[in-house]
Order: sequence, then structure tokens, then C-alpha cells
Amino acid sequence: MPQLWQGRASKAVDSRVNDFNSSIRFDARMIEQDIRGSLVHSAMLGAQGIISAQDVEDIHKGLHSILDDLHSGALEIDPTAEDVHTFVEQTLTARVGDAGKRLHTGRSRNDQVALDIRLYLRDAAATLQKEIKDLIDAICRKAEESAGYVMPGYTHLQRAQPVSFGHQLMAYAWMLLRDLGRMQDAVRRMDAECPLGSGALAGTTYPLDRFYTARELGFAAPCHNSIDGVSDRDFCIELCAAMATCMMHLSRLSEEVILWCSWEFRFVELDDAFTTGSSIMPQKKNPDVTELIRGKTGRVYGDLNTLLVMMKGIPLAYDKDMQEDKEAIFDAVDTLDLCLRTLTPMLATMTPRPENMRKAAAHGFINATDCADYLTKKGMPFRDAYKCTGTMVAACIREGKTLEEMSLEEFQRYSPLFEKDVYEAIDLTRCCEGRTSYGGPTRASVLSQIADVRAALAQ
Ligand code: ARG
Repeated sequence: MPQLWQGRASKAVDSRVNDFNSSIRFDARMIEQDIRGSLVHSAMLGAQGIISAQDVEDIHKGLHSILDDLHSGALEIDPTAEDVHTFVEQTLTARVGDAGKRLHTGRSRNDQVALDIRLYLRDAAATLQKEIKDLIDAICRKAEESAGYVMPGYTHLQRAQPVSFGHQLMAYAWMLLRDLGRMQDAVRRMDAECPLGSGALAGTTYPLDRFYTARELGFAAPCHNSIDGVSDRDFCIELCAAMATCMMHLSRLSEEVILWCSWEFRFVELDDAFTTGSSIMPQKKNPDVTELIRGKTGRVYGDLNTLLVMMKGIPLAYDKDMQEDKEAIFDAVDTLDLCLRTLTPMLATMTPRPENMRKAAAHGFINATDCADYLTKKGMPFRDAYKCTGTMVAACIREGKTLEEMSLEEFQRYSPLFEKDVYEAIDLTRCCEGRTSYGGPTRASVLSQIADVRAALAQ
């Protein structure tokens, strides 16, 4: 396919430059968005009397026939085309003749590509948001079932205080809800300003109606500075940052699933359909999905870095460096999409093992804070109670037992404040259920968190 810009040069472009320069192999995925922009641009040109009504009709007929072929699978995308914009314009001209050549009036590929990426990312972000909602929904269901399963909560990966498995899971639901919000914010800003009509950088002498195109393409307004319109990719960076943050959350959750399904923890059992085996070790059941998510998180961080570094030193307005935006942002979209689509059914089919959580909770002195709080409530200053309990824990470790295995006489050797009700105070379920502060791990709190998250999703 010849370049759109033939005319000035005295010879054909070296084939190596052509291959190097071409973006069709990765920007062809924006073909529907490119056609959508052209349908609106040409309608506006017609309404403004810049091209004739007949031209608009021919252009629309041609563009729709390309769309039809795309949907039926009959459209062959020329791999030698310079980019998707070239391909669509030349295919159109081959089908409808001169009207096709009038499509690019008052437009540049610079404002065209700035539009296409926005339209593509708007659609992609809608899909991702739906997938994040599905994951949050799966987490809420799992948390509902496990709201009363006591497990050790950890700090430094050391058993710390009792929580419920539902509470631990819901922590991720809140993180993902914020990811959703970040994505919505990014899309709102992306949809605020339409770049079409910025031209190459300096607008155009044609009487374009930029407000019409902005409205028809779903933007709040045309962008207010034509140089800005073609120059920035902050919308890619912002969305990519939201995706990288979401991947970070998926990766942490994955890491926990990997720990939980190990023989050391055995807090959950993964469904066989979501695990893999080993070619040599017959006993293995590996959590590859979650490991891949953890691994792929680095890719998305890399995509974000690619975009940030690509943009930091280029002068206004458009520079060809910016063609590198697409592979990075598309990779981030594809990766997050793949991870979300796999993680959700994996979590949904995961079976919690409350008996093992409970066993782990019984060891590791996760009720030591509650023992200290017991003494504090009986009048001992907290710092003294902390020290006293620490001494008791050290003695229990020496003797190989837990706090609740101590006799009342033993307790009273450390402080006369201990009475029979200490056993109740350090009972694991009570320790968890006693933490009634707002946002705590009680069953009631988990259930109300689930209701709140669901209400937020329904909005
Ligand atoms: N393929 C180009 C890109 O993705 C389209 C814009 C080309 N503009 C130009 N003046 N060469 O950035």
C-alpha cells in the first residue's frame, strides 16, 4: 500500500524504513474506532458545507461496507500499510473513488490518532471495569461464606491477631473498589476533551464544527488548545497507572493465595481446573495462575514506565516517538484483562479450609494482645499489662504450650487480677468477635462491609 504522503519525495521509501515506520500490526485493532471518527468527521464536513451531501453519502456507504467486511471476516488488512488510518482511507477510496479522497479535509493523522486511542481506551476501560466488578462480586460471595472463619491475621508474615477469612478477603474488595474509581476518574478526564479538529497541531482554516464532533463522539467538549490536543498522552499514562495499581492488588492477592494453598498453610484448596501439575513430581498441584499474575504485574509496571519515559523529553507538538504509546498501553489492557478473567473463576471455585485456619490461629499467641487488654480493663496500665503478658508468652514457649492451656493458678502467679473469665477473654472466636470497632473483623462487620461494597457497585 502506498503512503498517503507521496508527492514530495523523489524516490520510494527504503523497505526497511517502511517496515520500521509502520504501525499497522498493532494499531489495526483501532479500526472500528478509526471508522467511527471518520463517520462523524465526514458528517460534520457535510453539515458545514465543506464537502457535498453526495460525498458524505458515498463516504458513509464505503465506511459501512468496510465495517461489514470487518465483522464478517472478509476484510483483509494490508500488512504493508503504514498505519490503520492509511489503510482505512485507501480502502475507502478504492471502494468509493474521489469522495474517499475528500475525507481527510481539515484533519491530520495527529488529531485522528489522538482520537482513536481515546475511543479505544474508553471501550477497553468499560470492559475492564466490568471485570473488576465481577472480581469484587466473587470476593464478596466468598467473604459471605467465610465471614465467621477465624484465622490468624499477619504482620511481617508473623501471626499477629485473630481476624476472619471474610475480613481478610474484603480488604481486597475495598482496594479493587478504589481501582474502579481510579479507572472511572481517568476515563472521565479522557472523555472531557475531544482532540479531533486540532489538525496537525495548529487547527485549520476550514469552518469545522468541533462542538458537533465532540458531542457526537461522546466528549464533553472539544479540547481547548490544538497543540495540547495532539501532543499529550497523559490519558494513557493515567489509565496505565490505574491498571498498574490494580495489578499490584491482584499480585498481592495472588501471593496470599499461593501461601494459603501451600502445605505450610493449607487455608484453601484450589479447584483442580485452576491448577497445574509437574512433569516429574506426581504429587504436585501448582498455583500457576496466581504466580503468572504476580509475574505479569512487572509487565504492566514496565508499560507505565515506557509511556512515562517516552513522553518526558519530546518537544510539542506530535513526534513519532508517540507511536510507541500503543504497544505499551495495549499490552497493559490485554494483561489486566487476561488476569482478571482468570483470577475471578479461580477465586470463585476456591474452597476455604476453616479447620486449618483455626489450627493456625490456635498457635502463635495471636490472643496475647487480648490477654494484655484483659489486664488493662482490670486496672493495670497497658504498658505493664503488655510486659506481664510478654513474660507469660516467653514461659509458654519454653514449656511448649498456649496461653489458654495455663491453669488459673499459673495465671495468678503473674497477676492477682486474673480470674476465671480470662479464658473467655482469650478465646479466639471471642477475640475476633470482640473487636467491635468500626471496620473490624467481626462477622457483623464483614456482612455490613459486603452490603456497603455491593451498594457501591450498584451505583
Ligand atoms: N501511526 C501514527 C501514530 O501512531 C499516526 C500518526 C502519524 N502522524 C504523523 N505525522 N506521522 O502515532
